[in-house]
Amino acid sequence: MTGTDDTPLLEVRGVGKTFGGVIALRDVSLRVRAGQVGCVLGDNGAGKSTLIKILSGVHAPDTGAYLVDGAPADFGSPRDALERGIATVYQDLAMIPLMSVWRNFFLGSEPVLGRGPLRRFDVALARRTVREELRSMGIDIRDVDQPVGTLSGGERQSVAIARAVHFGARVLILDEPTSALGVKQAGVVLRYIAQARDRGVGVVFITHNPHHAYPIGDRFLVLNRGTSLGEYAKDEITREELTSLMAGGAELEQLAHELSRSEDPPG
Ligand SMILES: Nc1ncnc2c1ncn2[C@@H]1O[C@H](COP(=O)(O)OP(=O)(O)OP(=O)(O)O)[C@@H](O)[C@H]1O
Ligand SMILES: [Mg+2]
Repeated sequence: MTGTDDTPLLEVRGVGKTFGGVIALRDVSLRVRAGQVGCVLGDNGAGKSTLIKILSGVHAPDTGAYLVDGAPADFGSPRDALERGIATVYQDLAMIPLMSVWRNFFLGSEPVLGRGPLRRFDVALARRTVREELRSMGIDIRDVDQPVGTLSGGERQSVAIARAVHFGARVLILDEPTSALGVKQAGVVLRYIAQARDRGVGVVFITHNPHHAYPIGDRFLVLNRGTSLGEYAKDEITREELTSLMAGGAELEQLAHELSRSEDPPG
């Protein structure tokens, strides 16, 4: 588990999942190694969230295998996955907007002082830890007492990433962390993903956007209507090829054709 061998932290082999009659995922494979970023790309309904719910222990796959550190994993719940160091940051982030940054950081795992009836939340330690943790990841939050609701979307994502890293995530699963953000803020979040990667965390980065995925990704899995269009290492695919695969190249050409003017515009 020290990363000296080449065993992936996470691996799914040929996994599938159906809901009633809907095939959400069919025969999909992905490997995530320490210090690498695996991107999962696909349009709406492609099966991205279903895949991460399998990785994070929300759903058991109907078919195929899920391996953690090379051994079959049988997670009954997200808590089981978290205990193995697999942390998921969902898009809604599960933070409380009116609570401070440091309170949100420690939500559910507060450091305590004293014992028995004298037990209390060690506020000074919490503040200091959050300040140090954010600073060590280069995250510039002026005031850890400010309510999370006053942070920008990118800052909130960054705090959530720092929190997962602080609590010992070996694998960080991020569901569309950049999709609601402008260019600059998306860049900020991509930098923190790189920081987590450089600390040896294996990252699963879900996105619609090949321009966000390409610069940071080591591997790219493209999903389309529940099936894999391929899993590529970076040297096996160019940004243009990834974009065209993701957009469904031919479908996009058809759309361009439909949208083009049939005649010269009037006037
Ligand atoms: N719990 C469920 N019950 C029934 N159908 C589901 C369930 N979860 C997902 N599906 C279906 O599976 C397919 C894949 O959905 P999924 O949420 O994985 O897509 P996605 O790639 O995350 O899409 P988006 O980009 O819109 O978030 C969809 O057709 C969806 O309706
Ligand atoms: Mg989704």
